[in-house]
Amino acid sequence: MDVLVTGNLPEDIASPLTDRFNVTVHQQDRPMDRKALLSAVRGQHGLLCMITDQVDAELLEQAPDLKMVANYGVGFNNIDVAAATARGIPVSNTPGVLTDATADLTLALILAVGRRVVEGDLFTRQGRFQFWAPFHFLGQEITGKTLGLIGMGRIGSAVARRAAGFDMPVLYHNRNRLPKQEEDALGARYVDFGTLLQQSDFVSMHVPLTPETRHLIGAAELKQMKRGAYLINTARGPVVDESALVEALKRKQIAGAGLDVYEHEPELTPGLVQLTNVTLLPHMGSATKNTRRRMGAMAVENLIEGLEGRKPPNCINPEIY
Ligand code: 8YV
Repeated sequence: MDVLVTGNLPEDIASPLTDRFNVTVHQQDRPMDRKALLSAVRGQHGLLCMITDQVDAELLEQAPDLKMVANYGVGFNNIDVAAATARGIPVSNTPGVLTDATADLTLALILAVGRRVVEGDLFTRQGRFQFWAPFHFLGQEITGKTLGLIGMGRIGSAVARRAAGFDMPVLYHNRNRLPKQEEDALGARYVDFGTLLQQSDFVSMHVPLTPETRHLIGAAELKQMKRGAYLINTARGPVVDESALVEALKRKQIAGAGLDVYEHEPELTPGLVQLTNVTLLPHMGSATKNTRRRMGAMAVENLIEGLEGRKPPNCINPEIY
């Protein structure tokens, strides 16, 4: 069978695939452009894709032999799962292995924006640190501040556990309330969405991108947040209305933001880069060597299982079986 891998996986991670199938790997650092992807997918039986690839009805149309799609990532909003399901194609993702890395980076952003770490680094680098003064670079302490988690799945929960180390009271809002025992273990209190926005000093997004979560945070929600609050997003850009965020930041309606993802990624909404009260990262939540290797191994395993006719362990659309 023929397999297309659209990102450059380490050889040893890809080897279970190359041992079994005729594998084409896109060996460049940049994502495949759309035209190249549509042409490369023709005749393939398996696709191991990156979150930057749109696997939609048009693409599936080009690949009538496709038997399995394995996403290199936990978020799968880049895939039209309904269209794949309609064709009987199993789709998998990589849950769990990137939970800690993404939760760690969320804390990094909370600390960075609260304590102005990046601003301070730039200031020092530019040779502007010429004397110490009692009112230089005053930020916000993290310890004891209220953290509001929007979404309380694997990553939200991992952030809550880390927040305990900073004595942060944790509020959360989620589609489903967790069992009391889990809430107690995480030290997290369930509140309605409005209460979370009004009471949190740091509001952090941990929801998948779906039609229901698009623009979950817009102008009205930003208005409900405290003036001294920060918005953190390591989930998916479009869960925040980025133009509304830029406006709120300009008007100092909230204190700042820490973003790893963008509404029109990799493009940034005009005005964002000029703001000093934001920390901007290039979608690197899962970017540790170990995590990326584990994501690769997981996607490879899923692809093999699917292609060999077994249900992949991380199948998103098990109803096809
Ligand atoms: C990306 C992610 O996949 O898994 C996800 O949903 O957003 C990240 O792990 C990764 O950063 C890019 O390949």
